[in-house]
Amino acid sequence: MKNVVSVVGLGYVGLPLALAIAKSGNKVFGIDTNPELVNDLNSCKIENVDMKKFENELDLLVSNKLFSPVGDFEFVSKCSIIIVCLPTPLTEKGEPNLDILLAGLKSIKKFIKTGATLIVESTVYPGTMEEIVVKLFQDIDINLGYSPERIDPGNKDFDLGNTPKIISAFDIPTLNIMKDFYGQFTEKVHVMESVKAAEFAKIIENTYRLVNISLVNELLQIGNALGVNVRSALAAAATKPFGFQLFTPGIGAGGHCVPVDPVYLEWKVSTIDKSLSKVLTAAIQVNNEMPNYVCQKVKDLIPSGQAKILLYGISYKKGVSDTRESPSLKIRSILKNEGHFIYWFDPNIEEYDDEKRVENIYDFDLVIIMNYDKTLYLDELMKSNIRILDCTGLANKSNSIYYL
Ligand SMILES: NC(=O)c1ccc[n+]([C@@H]2O[C@H](COP(=O)([O-])OP(=O)(O)OC[C@H]3O[C@@H](n4cnc5c(N)ncnc54)[C@H](O)[C@@H]3O)[C@@H](O)[C@H]2O)c1
Repeated sequence: MKNVVSVVGLGYVGLPLALAIAKSGNKVFGIDTNPELVNDLNSCKIENVDMKKFENELDLLVSNKLFSPVGDFEFVSKCSIIIVCLPTPLTEKGEPNLDILLAGLKSIKKFIKTGATLIVESTVYPGTMEEIVVKLFQDIDINLGYSPERIDPGNKDFDLGNTPKIISAFDIPTLNIMKDFYGQFTEKVHVMESVKAAEFAKIIENTYRLVNISLVNELLQIGNALGVNVRSALAAAATKPFGFQLFTPGIGAGGHCVPVDPVYLEWKVSTIDKSLSKVLTAAIQVNNEMPNYVCQKVKDLIPSGQAKILLYGISYKKGVSDTRESPSLKIRSILKNEGHFIYWFDPNIEEYDDEKRVENIYDFDLVIIMNYDKTLYLDELMKSNIRILDCTGLANKSNSIYYL
């Protein structure tokens, strides 16, 4: 059955989702409070370079009126399905910040019609739907569901269509509506009857990544202390065809998900029994300390004085322009505070913090490679005599290169 749908929040999660829903023949209103974004999308322009690839699709879907970007929540009243893709960041104190999600839900509540299905896709801690969302909508007769988003920006192999989609709801009729709906644009739907378990599943996925990234970064530090090459040891361990998955050391996990979602879980656990989250807490701590470890390495290379340092890569991972929770930017502020002159280059970012990327990358005392992205300059850099601190272990050069 085709529906009229609202997707609320047109960022990394919401925009590709809205386009996929519209492409499958549903009429979609994309609601976002950023007027510039709404204007751009209506002019079929995507400023975010990570999502530029959707421009042709956007053009087609806006022209044939299957996708309408709007700034007003009143369009919710026309919809039988409303999907919420709003950010769930941390507060300054490092605790879950549901303010944006709640503001969006309250705006939706003003216009949602009886019998509509409201689905949250934002990442939340287990129990959020039951404890907060159900209560907020208890005086209205609507269906509530939860379907965590798994999109991985920059991933060329997996997208919304071929990544199994977890769906959950508080009753079977809502699950059936969701199954029919998501089945229109995803190859595989994984049905869960517990909403809390679906919320937990999403956080488990990212906790698994954070714990393994922190473990391998701890092994890196242990290897360095023992005087043994951890990358060669890891490559050897990875020849085992079972029971081992390779994670590679680096500057730490960044982005809006991997370093953030485990903190949501840790916070929730702390409301019950803090002592239950030992590994989780250690992983968060190791990750938070990685920028300091990188800066200590810089200190080993430049024991005194101020140096002119280039950071190669300021996004949180290679191939994207997203700088949220980027360890590279934490390294930038520590080194700046230590008095060094810090410049940056990133193949996917031209301007950050009112500062343009440098285009001459050869005039530095030290270049720190944060993300290994061969798109621009890296080959030339490897041929130069500039001192390089490679945090990825991927750069291949015999002279003047130091590994994290
Ligand atoms: N980025 C990812 O790779 C990813 C992957 C899986 C899950 N998630 C989760 O999905 C959720 C959304 O993340 P994102 O990365 O897409 O966020 P984002 O910041 O890219 O996009 C959010 C959008 O919401 C808009 N917005 C903010 N407040 C609003 C409001 N009150 N009403 C309407 N629009 C509003 C913003 O203008 C922005 O365009 C988060 O919970 C995140 O943890 C993100």
